[in-house]
Amino acid sequence: MAEKIIFDTDPGIDDAMALLFAHALPNIDMMAITTVYGNGTIEDCTRNACFLNDKFNMGATVVRGAEGPITRDPVGPTVVVHGEHGLGTVEAPADQPINIDPRPAHVYMSEMTRAHPGEITLVAVGPLTNLALALEYDPEIVNNVKEVVIMGAAFGEQGHSGNISPVAEANIYDDPHAADQVFTADWHVVIVGLDVTHQTFFTGEYLDKLRDEAGDVGQFIWDVSRFYLKFYSERVGVNGCHVHDPSAVAYVADPSLFTTRKGPVRVVTDGPAIGMTIQKTDDKFYHHDQWSSNRAQSVCVGVENERLLKLYWDSILSLA
Ligand code: BDR
Ligand code: CA
Repeated sequence: MAEKIIFDTDPGIDDAMALLFAHALPNIDMMAITTVYGNGTIEDCTRNACFLNDKFNMGATVVRGAEGPITRDPVGPTVVVHGEHGLGTVEAPADQPINIDPRPAHVYMSEMTRAHPGEITLVAVGPLTNLALALEYDPEIVNNVKEVVIMGAAFGEQGHSGNISPVAEANIYDDPHAADQVFTADWHVVIVGLDVTHQTFFTGEYLDKLRDEAGDVGQFIWDVSRFYLKFYSERVGVNGCHVHDPSAVAYVADPSLFTTRKGPVRVVTDGPAIGMTIQKTDDKFYHHDQWSSNRAQSVCVGVENERLLKLYWDSILSLA
């Protein structure tokens, strides 16, 4: 049976790539797209979600979420990476019909997981604000959710420690307080962070070939990725991009693509290391320990890049 997911996202170029992937996979049932600020404003991210949902007949319910972080000052949209309105040079039409559920995202998450206890996986690929709000609104949600899979964080594996600061990944940096609440709650979280997404790569050639062989969907992925590749080429010096948000979807579809490491995770919530994520990986006793009383979470530390790229390829081609 297909895995039911609520997809929490800030589209976002790689978010768009991930949404198409989730839509294409036969073993994923994307019930809803809940939106969050991040790569764009909440208005832009919600408009982009509605646009993608309609354009590709995804059939998901779109639900608007938080417009800013819980405690910290807003960081602001990542215009330099995702463009003025989140989808690079592709613009969602301003006059499109916006069909959204009237509930805020965190209320929707609570009600849907109560209606389907133990069946729904929350997949979150933006700042974790909506999930933290859901925990505050409905503490029982930890018992009703099947699992939480997030794209975010960095633990320094293979030298991958940060992308927005030397030690922080962007989604966690946007709302570190929310992330700390999500990681320390009594539900199982799988963290797909830079440790693995910086080990995966869509080359320029891969995306050209997808455009040539995957019809309208391939063309769209190519169009939307132009701005992203320009950023990578100018700032990182490579022809291609890392596979961030689609990797969280890949985990849900086929966890065997990843190796994981268990241990409680905390987030630094102020100071120069704000947004840094730290996992306790040993069983030692410490006199001062704000990790061990929390549940052990799973951090992805290895990925089979070629198999992941093939899964993405085959899935997108199935939509063509
Ligand atoms: C994450 O930050 C955003 O820019 C991307 O959409 C992804 O979710 C990568 O650090
Ligand atoms: Ca994202």
